This record gives sequence, C-alpha cells and structure tokens, in this order.
Amino acid sequence: MFLTGAFPAISVATYCLLGVALTLCFIFYFRRPGKLPPGPWRLPLLGNAHQLPSKTPWTVFGQWAKTYGNIIHVDLFGQSIILVNSQKIAFDLMDKRSTNYSDRPIIPIAAMSQVGDTFALQSYNDSWRRQRKMIAQEFTAAGVSRFQSLQEREWRLQVKRILHNPDTIFSEIKLRAGVIAIRALYGYYVRTPNDPMLSNPIEVIREFSRLSTPQTGLAFRFLPRWTPGVTFFKEALDYERLHVAATVAPYEWCKTNLETPKVLVPNVCCDIWEKNSVLDQDGHKQVYNALSSALGGGLDSNASSALTFFMTMILHPEVQQKAQMELDTIIGFDRLPDINDQSRLPYVRAVLAETLRFMPPIPLCIPHALKEDDIYEGYFLPKGAWVIPNIWNMLRDPIVYSDPMTFNPDRYKGDDKAMEQVKNLVFGFGRRGCPGRLFAENSLFVLIATTLATCNISPGLDENGKQVLPNGNYTSGTISFPEPFKITINPRSTNTDALLAEVHELYE
Ligand code: HEM
Repeated sequence: MFLTGAFPAISVATYCLLGVALTLCFIFYFRRPGKLPPGPWRLPLLGNAHQLPSKTPWTVFGQWAKTYGNIIHVDLFGQSIILVNSQKIAFDLMDKRSTNYSDRPIIPIAAMSQVGDTFALQSYNDSWRRQRKMIAQEFTAAGVSRFQSLQEREWRLQVKRILHNPDTIFSEIKLRAGVIAIRALYGYYVRTPNDPMLSNPIEVIREFSRLSTPQTGLAFRFLPRWTPGVTFFKEALDYERLHVAATVAPYEWCKTNLETPKVLVPNVCCDIWEKNSVLDQDGHKQVYNALSSALGGGLDSNASSALTFFMTMILHPEVQQKAQMELDTIIGFDRLPDINDQSRLPYVRAVLAETLRFMPPIPLCIPHALKEDDIYEGYFLPKGAWVIPNIWNMLRDPIVYSDPMTFNPDRYKGDDKAMEQVKNLVFGFGRRGCPGRLFAENSLFVLIATTLATCNISPGLDENGKQVLPNGNYTSGTISFPEPFKITINPRSTNTDALLAEVHELYE
C-alpha cells in the first residue's frame, strides 16, 4: 500500500521504519550522560560534511577554535569526531587517559585493504602490542646508534648531489630518506629512484595520505563495494594491490637472500628474526606488517621536515649565518659534523626544533579513537569517536610561542626542555607516540648540520634571472609538504668540495 497526495509515493512500511529510526536517534541523544562539545551546526545525515575543508584543514580547525573552543565536536555522516586544538587537552586525554584513547578509528581505506593489519593503523589490541614491541625494541637509543654512519653518509651524499643540481632537491630528499629507511629495515640498498622497492612504498604513502582523510571514504562506508559510480572502491582495490606489493617484496627479498652478502647488516628485519627464531605463517605476517609500518613512518615524514628546513633557510639567511658561526667554531673546517656532535651544537638543535614546530609533517597526527564513553570537563565523548589532535595549531599557540608564525630558533634561548616540548607534540601522544622518533631526529640533525656547514642557501632564479621566494604554502593530506620551490645552493669554502668528495655511494 502507498501513501499518495502531497507526499511522494512511499510505502507505509518505509514511514514506519523512518519513525523507528528517528525515535532511536531521539532516545540515543537523551540517553547521553552529558552534552557533546560545541561545534558548527550540522545537517541531518550529512552532519558537518559540507563544512569540512579539503585544503589544509588544520588552519580551518584552528579558526574554529576561536569560535567553539579548544575541544570541538563535528559529525561526518553519523561519525563523531572530536577535534582537539590545545596541548593541555591533548595530553589530558591521550597521555593521562591513554588506556581509553589509544585505539585507532576504523579508517575506511585501512578497513578495505591489508594496510589495516599494520600496527600504525590497528586497534589497540594484542597484534598491535606484538608488532609495536618488535619495532620499539629496535629503535631505542642504542638501536638507532647502529645506523648513524648510514644516516651520515646518505645525507652527505644528498648535499653533494644538490650542490651539483639544486633542481633535484625534492626527488633527492625522497630518495635519501628511502635509501636510509629500506637499508636499515631490510638490509637492501636502493640505487635508483625507479627501483620498485622504493617507488612502490612512496606511491603507497602518497595514496594513503590522499585516501585516508576523514572526508574520503566515510561517506561510502555503509555502501556495498559494487555500488556504481563510486570511484573510491576502485581506488581502494588498486591501493590494496600496491600495498601488498610494497610490503611483501622487501621482506621476501631479505628472506631469500639471507645467507648471501647481498643482505646488509645490521638490519631490523634480521634482528627481529633472530629474536623470534620460530615464526609460523602468522608470525611472518606480523613481522612484515611491523616493518611496513616503520617504512611508512620513515619515508615522507622525514622528507617533509627536510624540505621545510631548506624552505625556511631560503627565507632566513640570518639563521643560516648564526648556525654556521656555531658550526665553524665548534667543528672547524677539517671534518664534517656528525650525529655525535648534537650535544655540542645548541643552535643547530634549535634550528631542528623550530623546523618541526614551524610545520609538523603530520599536522593532524594519526587519529586516535575512544574505546569507551568518557566525560571530559562536563562534555560527553562517545565510544568510537575519532580524536584528531591539531598539532599544527598547538604549535602556533601565541600564549606558548610568541609571534608563532615567525621562524625563530632563538625563541628557545638554548633551553632543551622548550625544544623537547615541541617534539613531544610533533611525534604524537601516549602509547601511540612515534616509535621512530630518535631515528628521525638523528637523520634531521645530520642533514641540517651537514648542509649548513658546507652550503649557503638562497632563493632560486626564474627564467629571467630574478630571485623567486617560496610561496610558503603546504600540500593537504595526512602528510604535508611545502609546495615546490626553487633554490640556489653554493659551497661555503674550498674545503667543502674536498670533504664531500670523500663521500661515496655504497656501490660507487
Ligand atoms: C620527522 C619524522 C617523523 C614524524 C614527525 C613522525 C610523527 C609521527 C606521528 C605524529 C605519529 C602518530 C602518533 C599518534 O598517533 O599519536 C607517528 C606514528 C608512527 N611513526 Fe612516526 N614520525 C616520524 C618518523 C618516523 C620514523 C623514522 C619511523 C620509523 C620507525 C616512524 C614510525 C612510526 C610508526 C610505526 C607509527 C605508528 C605508531 C602506533 O600506532 O603505535 N616514524 N609518527
């Protein structure tokens, strides 16, 4: 039977179902033990989907904080999302209440592909614990020191290459970050940017960065995969294939060549095998997913910070000069700086901290999720809600960082505690905090110190020979990069060439 007249032809059964659904929503709303945090007005079904920005959302969420406060609730097609804009709230929730806030939400692209089995994206469960332990044990201070000479050589090579061809700076930085990560994790030495051992994971990360934003996929999560016209499902399928290839190939290579000198040691994969001598099929799966998480973490995030460093140096010659004075006085001209020099170079350490503050590579972190309902300052935060810490906004809080939009390493006044505060935000929160932090810091330090000891950086030139400054804009997506810029790089002293000439590719 159909109702007709002013209404479209809809069956009575449909009206009944709608009525039940509305009543359930009503009951659910009033069953809540508190009100949700404030947020922009939402539409039925869509929620705030129409207001979520696709470009640099961290800046818009920061603006929202001025209207709604530092804890905001938005709704995306029925999914609750809590935006956290202040460091106090972030630590209150994700550090102090970490038992409840260490879950990951079900990110649609992860649920639709095996990337969801890598611990970076897994729920807070036993598989996560097992994989995380494998990686955390390898990336302790002692663990990362095994890779110092690798990091020093590769970043020096990077400087040598871009001195000859500054236009390759973007591709060269990605190549070096990849060479270091793949060599350290699997004992494999990448020789060209086209090697699929490198190009596949880079593509995986690029696609993940694009497909994992809350706006992408959440709308389609209740639809069957065969729904016509939804490109997301096809993209998810392609992504799955790519992810499996990128994850399994280096692992299998290491397994096949284990007894040969091709596998360079030490490496994380062999160390994990040694510690877990008997591995069944599931055990192997856990190891390659753990390694894949670490590879995902080690590529683009480091490359993003390296590019931010070069961009800010173009804009701040006075910072270069000050760091160079420190390097010249402490290190001199007879050798290149190395990772062990960190404790002696406070200003270079400040340049590193300021680079991370100025643009955290993962500005909205990886979302956490609530395992159980919670109340915070009278607000109800529902089980399963995504928690998105706006790290970018926290690092631009004018109460903590005066004149926050300016790149200024002097703001730390040499105080390592203040620099540490920055890193405690940039590398994430609580039990989910980045396990690769020490490794990443070593890489960035040696890159910054080597570059400043050996090069002068200035703006690139356009086709008319006129200087062009970087526009300072950043790409959107989970990992953010400076938009392409031109750069001029000149050697600082005659000795520079001689010192860098000593540095060679592993197989040169
Ligand atoms: C500048 C470089 C890096 C930055 C800024 C960075 C930042 C982050 C952030 C913000 C998170 C999310 C933390 C959270 O959910 O609260 C994270 C997680 C992670 N990072 Fe990094 N990271 C960097 C380099 C690395 C490196 C070199 C590795 C290699 C081991 C790595 C491996 C991981 C892994 C495996 C996770 C997931 C942890 C988990 O879910 O338990 N990262 N990182």
